Amino acid sequence: MRIPVTVVILAAGLGTRMKSRKAKVLHRAGGKALIEHVVETALKLAPAERIFVVVGHQAEEVRKTVAGTPGGSGIGFIEQTEQKGTGHALMVGREALAGLDGYLAIVYGDGPLLRVETLERLVDRAAAGCPLGPAAGVLLSAMMDDATGYGRVIRGADGGVARIVEQKAATPDELAIREANMGIYCYRADLFWKHVEEIRPDNPAGEYYLTDMVEILNRAGHYVEAMQIDDPGEALGINDRVELAKVNAILRERKRRELMLGGVTIEQPETVVIDADVRVGMDTVIEPFAQVLGKTIIGADCRIGACSIVRDSELADQVEIGPFTIVGTSRLERGVHAGPFARLRMENVVEEGAHIGNFVELKKTRLGARAKANHLAYLGDSQIGASVNIGAGTITCNYDGLRKHATKIGDGAFIGSNSTLVAPIEIGAGAYVGAGSVVTEPVPPDALALGRARQVVKEDWARKRRALHK
Ligand code: UD1
Ligand code: CA
Repeated sequence: MRIPVTVVILAAGLGTRMKSRKAKVLHRAGGKALIEHVVETALKLAPAERIFVVVGHQAEEVRKTVAGTPGGSGIGFIEQTEQKGTGHALMVGREALAGLDGYLAIVYGDGPLLRVETLERLVDRAAAGCPLGPAAGVLLSAMMDDATGYGRVIRGADGGVARIVEQKAATPDELAIREANMGIYCYRADLFWKHVEEIRPDNPAGEYYLTDMVEILNRAGHYVEAMQIDDPGEALGINDRVELAKVNAILRERKRRELMLGGVTIEQPETVVIDADVRVGMDTVIEPFAQVLGKTIIGADCRIGACSIVRDSELADQVEIGPFTIVGTSRLERGVHAGPFARLRMENVVEEGAHIGNFVELKKTRLGARAKANHLAYLGDSQIGASVNIGAGTITCNYDGLRKHATKIGDGAFIGSNSTLVAPIEIGAGAYVGAGSVVTEPVPPDALALGRARQVVKEDWARKRRALHK
């Protein structure tokens, strides 16, 4: 079994450079708040009772977001009302955390790209120790062409890390060091808590630097190691909205790659947006500029048309979404076709093999198996049976200005083009509604309903009129 690990996520800062009223970790990338990504990663490393988030700015909102992450309800919080530095963020948690044995992993809430594999390697490395004996801690570092802004890793004679020097306090020689501190650590919990109070705000910024722990532990005769990662991008923290966009692009790219390697064709992938939790089956094709969002699940052999948006919906196998189609919170069964230019607004169920064509809107509607609504219709609050044909221009009048009413259409009914179905209304199975009807009374099964003025034909009328006006 793995040694117990406690994960602390630092997320108290406002993130001034975001120029936002919203705390930085609540900004979204890859379809989720930054903190949600980090929480999900932490949950793969430790149980919720062993995860703590240091909150400060908009603590309430951050708490809610953390608790709302799947599996995150048991996560603990540490209140850091005044942000006096990364070291201070840990110091305020001492009481809650010092009793927890094993190792202490420290990550940032604004670094959503960190992979759990990297964290696991960091913990393993800390636990395995080093050639000189067990390490008191391991930090993540990377060789950077330009390490501006990062703390620099100062190596000791024994190859370990002697200390970290922050950009602001570094000498020109130290600034030339390319090995940068990624700000992600794994410490032996007992040693960390024994020495944490030794951090002093004795630097130009007057902050309690977490980075000082390295020197403090060295002074106490312990060894601190650095584990280099090849891709410093993984530890990229977001400071402003330009970086937010970059990280968003990376998360999107990761998701598309995962899907493509899993057997999904994505045409012009750089134009396609797919949220992190979306699942897509084999041999499905996603066309350019499509967006697949939220908790959407798509089956195998589907096609998602160009410029379509599918959100929080469930598509079975062989579903075809035409271009420019919008699907929200709906379930589409096997072989359904929808679009181009259709809108399945919310809470619809479209049964097997049904067809929905251009400029058709569905809201809270069940469309039966093999039913067709191929052109220009509004179907709201409707229960529509199997194999029903909805003619072009059919409108369910579901709203009377005060309340919404239901429409029910039985199996195999035929609704002629340009029908107006005034709800509440029921049309029986196998019934016909003549084109252009306004239907206000129930139609029994197998009946024909005509609700329109009888046609009048006046012979010769046009010819006479022309003669009159000559
Ligand atoms: C820190 C490291 C630096 C490293 C860099 C990597 C220190 C002193 N320096 O610098 O060596 O190269 O990360 O990105 O640690 N936070 C709190 N409470 C606070 C202060 C910060 O929760 O009182 C949180 C912030 O919200 C943020 C994270 O800690 O998510 C990092 O803080 P930040 O001030 O950005 O540290 P850096 O200056 O980037
Ligand atoms: Ca930072």
